[in-house]
Amino acid sequence: MIRIAVIGAGFMGQTHGEAYRNMDNAQVVAVCEQNQEKGGAYAKQFQCRHYCNFDEMVAECEIDVVDICLPTFLHETYVIQAARAGKHIFCEKPVTLQVESLDRMLAEVKKAGVFLYVGQVIRFWPEYVEAKRCLEDGTLGELKSYYAARLSEHPAWSPWYRRVENSGGGLLDLHLHDVDYACYLFGKPEKVFAIGKKNEYGAWNHVTSTLLFPNGVKTTVEGILEMAPGYPFTMELRMVGDRKVFEYVMKAGKNLEDVASSQRSACLYGDGTVEKLPVEEKDAYQAELWHFVNCVSQGISSPVISTDQVREVLCTIRALNQSLEEERLVTVSYQ
Ligand SMILES: NC(=O)c1ccc[n+]([C@@H]2O[C@H](COP(=O)([O-])OP(=O)(O)OC[C@H]3O[C@@H](n4cnc5c(N)ncnc54)[C@H](O)[C@@H]3O)[C@@H](O)[C@H]2O)c1
Repeated sequence: MIRIAVIGAGFMGQTHGEAYRNMDNAQVVAVCEQNQEKGGAYAKQFQCRHYCNFDEMVAECEIDVVDICLPTFLHETYVIQAARAGKHIFCEKPVTLQVESLDRMLAEVKKAGVFLYVGQVIRFWPEYVEAKRCLEDGTLGELKSYYAARLSEHPAWSPWYRRVENSGGGLLDLHLHDVDYACYLFGKPEKVFAIGKKNEYGAWNHVTSTLLFPNGVKTTVEGILEMAPGYPFTMELRMVGDRKVFEYVMKAGKNLEDVASSQRSACLYGDGTVEKLPVEEKDAYQAELWHFVNCVSQGISSPVISTDQVREVLCTIRALNQSLEEERLVTVSYQ
């Protein structure tokens, strides 16, 4: 049984708690939440202990994994604390805001000899798993064009998202998902170009990016975190091959809070026919955490996402930020 301590009982802390509840080899034993009321309610809901103080929790509880669901600007502090306490770590995405910050985290993780898994969840999203299969088994033929999008209202459940120095704005908080998936498929982009619009707080919440990969693949990725109120949370992925076209469109009822009621369809077009793909009805967060719990149980790094890949994606995002600021093509630095 893998014993988990969830840090932060907010939107993602809740999502993770539900996912662990459905596993027979994991158990949430503690929650660290600074808000007494929220922490108390979480402890009752998931039958675990509530702490406000991380050190106290680690001293008193037998824990294998610390699962960090805190606002992004706090990830570095808690990843380092967890590593120093000798715990394996799951950290929500974006792992942190700057490459230097990630390097400090990775140094501590390495020194402690623990695993760090980062929740870049699109790699586990059933339709994206299917898309990868169609690309890699030759169903699509040679890829000619690629478009992905993620369109959302601004998260309304917590005020810290509004502060770009805390969340990274739409570029890090939302766009990163599709940049991550493109890197998962095609490797490390060589050059990037992005156009967009900053909001009044300096957040790049409207971004259209082009990623140029060394193998000649070019992808267009759009991310908008300022859709008008009422616009459904939307994901799109279209891969046009010389044999078939894969297209996935998902529209949720109300922003991200209502993914359960979403309309989703993944289709293959070709030879004058449309084939609706039978995609497994499974929750991606559940699949992701199940994978990580199994990796920890077996004492292995994740074969789906490595810390090197997490770093490459963050380097790509920083290059996109530079491209947005300077309105030019930028060569991605992985130093
Ligand atoms: N993978 C995804 O699809 C996805 C979706 C949404 C959010 N996220 C990410 O998950 C992370 C958490 O986001 P969220 O929406 O759950 O945030 P949230 O604001 O809903 O929850 C954060 C919780 O942390 C608590 N907290 C803050 N500081 C604390 C501290 N020092 N010690 C203990 N508790 C503290 C807050 O009281 C709050 O309950 C962010 O990095 C966000 O970007 C990922």
